[in-house]
Amino acid sequence: MSDFDTVLVVDFGAQYAQLIARRVREAHVYSEIVPNTITPEEIRARRPVGIILSGGPASVHVEGAPTMDVGVYDTGVPVLGICYGAQLVALQLGGEVARTGQGEYGRTTLEAPASSTLLTSGSQDVWMSHFDSIVKAPPGFAAAASTAATPVAVLESDDRRVYGVQFHPEVVHTPRGQELLKRFLYDVCQARPTWTMTSIIEQQTELIRKQVGGERIICALSGGVDSAVAAALVHHAVGPQLTCVYVDNGLMREGESEQVVEAFQRTQGIELIHVRAEERFLAALEGVTEPEEKRKAIGERFIREFEATAGGIEDARFLVQGTLYPDVIESGGAEHASTIKSHHNVGGLPEDIEFELVEPLRSLFKDEVRRVGEELGLPEEVVWRQPFPGPGLGVRIIGEVTKERADLLRQADAIVRHEVHEAGLDREIWQVFAVLLADVRSVGVMGDERTYGHPVIVRAVTSDDAMTADWARLPYDLLARISSRIINEVRGINRVAYDITSKPPGTIEWE
Ligand code: XMP
Repeated sequence: MSDFDTVLVVDFGAQYAQLIARRVREAHVYSEIVPNTITPEEIRARRPVGIILSGGPASVHVEGAPTMDVGVYDTGVPVLGICYGAQLVALQLGGEVARTGQGEYGRTTLEAPASSTLLTSGSQDVWMSHFDSIVKAPPGFAAAASTAATPVAVLESDDRRVYGVQFHPEVVHTPRGQELLKRFLYDVCQARPTWTMTSIIEQQTELIRKQVGGERIICALSGGVDSAVAAALVHHAVGPQLTCVYVDNGLMREGESEQVVEAFQRTQGIELIHVRAEERFLAALEGVTEPEEKRKAIGERFIREFEATAGGIEDARFLVQGTLYPDVIESGGAEHASTIKSHHNVGGLPEDIEFELVEPLRSLFKDEVRRVGEELGLPEEVVWRQPFPGPGLGVRIIGEVTKERADLLRQADAIVRHEVHEAGLDREIWQVFAVLLADVRSVGVMGDERTYGHPVIVRAVTSDDAMTADWARLPYDLLARISSRIINEVRGINRVAYDITSKPPGTIEWE
């Protein structure tokens, strides 16, 4: 990203690095996450305007606590250490970090006796999460602020241009945290705030044009946000050289396939091949009830369909992928948690077709992708769409997948989503959907008649990243409306239950 001033965020293995990187970008400065093993030479080669050391494990004194080459402080690039990063600065430059027995967790009052480079004088609320404390600043450093339990909560050396803050300026619980980050970025690093949606689009447009020249490009649309924005961006860059393929597996939600066709073909004017493959997907799923087997069957069918279509576009040399920055960070070395479900990404690359990849979202976080999508004129329903599993309703029908069952679930799911939308809760809820227990039946009574139908489970969760989730506290009257509408309107469903399992121990999907 040579056009943008860059800040490197050194990752010490906690979950804070990504949040810091996002906050820096919200201040319109481009940021990248790098491992703590980065060397001073590597840093010099990247020519960053600033370095931020992220939070990490609780203590710099525990065995195996991650460290960093001290030569980094001599690169001349300004450094800001946050939490663990601040303790590391103190320790590596000759200060003292002690186990005072007085850790601080949560909201704390920070006192700055005088204004300094990072702070204005006075008190403010900050968010703390640390066990050890910096008790003595290194030589040449000023202790610019303290809290009741931490004598050196902020340390500053304008001469060395090295700083440290014991609290977390990147979290919302530190209301003036962004102000502090901006002071570091603009005043200390002299970073130019040029990372804006318009400049991202301009830069990517240029890169895409350079990469693909006059060649033909294809893109598999899944209906999801990432592939949609990637396709729109490529189309913005090279227009008619792009052909999109949308494989309709018959397991999408109500109205979704029409929406994709409408948004891309009609509104954006993108060439789109709509592959109607419902029957072939259903045939592949006949008799399959085991969740991973379903995923495999759907994944394989998708590849066949895509190959058959892509093979017809003979001159295509490039394939668009909606890879995001967090995927890049993850595959760049961080150790993976064990795979619980084989997440087949429908936009995935068939292994035996040879294409060169075009990945215009590789440096973007999800919220940036959404803003790029809005800027490119994609409709709100596409840009703000909730995550949806690649195998679609296939993993929300518990039991064998048939057309009738998919139709039944589609109807119930549409009611759930409509009511949540009407209640204005869309954006607060990470995912909300219905699950059909297709092999279970229960007895009910409607009017004077006995019914013997299937139950539907309503699932709504809040989450930041799908790694953990909590069941959403939907208002009772909303749940009541959902329940009575489903039972009255969807023939064959006579019972509605609400799933109150968090993740862990549950998962978001039922299969
Ligand atoms: P779980 O159920 O593992 O889901 O808590 C975490 C997130 O991943 C989505 N999900 C999938 N996405 N293919 C996908 O592309 C899949 O097979 C798949 N299974 C689950 C799920 O909707 C949630 O957002």
